[in-house]
Amino acid sequence: MTETLNFDVTTVTESRIHQFDPNNITFGSLFTDHMLVADYIDGQWQTPKILPFGDISYNPALASLHYGQAIFEGMKAFKNDDDEVLMFRPQDNWQRFNISAERMCMAQVPEEIFIGGLEELLRLDAAWVPKGEDNSLYLRPFMISSDVYLGVRPSQNYRFMIIMSPAGQYYSTPPKVKVETEFIRAAPGGVGYAKCAGNYASSLYPAKLAQEQGYTQLLWTDAIEHKYFEESGTMNVMFVIDGKLVTPAVSSTILKGVTRDSLIKLAQSMGIEVEERRVSVEEVISGISNGTVTEVFGAGTAVVVSPFAAIGYEGEDYVLPAITEQSLSSKLKKALNDVRTGKVEDTFGWVW
Ligand code: COI
Repeated sequence: MTETLNFDVTTVTESRIHQFDPNNITFGSLFTDHMLVADYIDGQWQTPKILPFGDISYNPALASLHYGQAIFEGMKAFKNDDDEVLMFRPQDNWQRFNISAERMCMAQVPEEIFIGGLEELLRLDAAWVPKGEDNSLYLRPFMISSDVYLGVRPSQNYRFMIIMSPAGQYYSTPPKVKVETEFIRAAPGGVGYAKCAGNYASSLYPAKLAQEQGYTQLLWTDAIEHKYFEESGTMNVMFVIDGKLVTPAVSSTILKGVTRDSLIKLAQSMGIEVEERRVSVEEVISGISNGTVTEVFGAGTAVVVSPFAAIGYEGEDYVLPAITEQSLSSKLKKALNDVRTGKVEDTFGWVW
């Protein structure tokens, strides 16, 4: 539990939970009964409000709409066998949120508002946390600049909010990904390590072009040579090469994923060798052909662990072993799910 703060709470008169079917969940489309709204005005955080989930109105000159000071986090909550609600590594997300805020010149959000707000919302909306393999409650804290002003400068006012949405499996079939060698996701000195809205907006056009060619997502390469892997879609990317778990080292262009870090630590605890380093396209493409690369998967909060079916590179598709044979990724996913849902003892101190 984090330090307590007073929240101004208005609860719903009638829950919408009857709209929720745990066996039929579409990511990000249905939201729980309540949301949190906290405003930063004149250098001070105001008392956070918990309100019935609903529309908010805004002035058309709202700075975030024009200049993109907007950041977010993706996190998940689960239920254990005793129906207790567990959050996974919320402090890591809170810290990363404030790193993104610093890069985007935005206000820092205190732990009592970020984690305390999540606790308060989860207490009210606990019934929305689904059980079942691959199910969770996706938590979306986000912040926008809220000055009503068209001059280009860091906003002086901000709005921090949390909304929550039941989630199931993100991809229904294993993604086929295309190595992107023209467009880039991030460049050194840019904002790749920050979870800012613009990173997602700028990825849409290259992803759309790849989708028109039959791919699900992109495998981003470095901005300078297009020779080294960075991330895939909205996920970190991991490879099994010669039985080792290999992943691009985090840098100014790569998001420091909480799932990525958890999988690395779980793999190490299983005695699997892990390498965080540059991974070249050439190493992976030739490794798929000669059998040294046996698994490639995305790792992220929304997808958890998502093994790829094939990688497209320079007009050629390199098919990966069948998903049932990509055994390390499924072992790591199970180990992660077991910790997150309280099925095994949390020796890492990750569960809240
Ligand atoms: C997450 O895994 O939380 C993400 O950032 C992906 C999201 C944009 C759907």
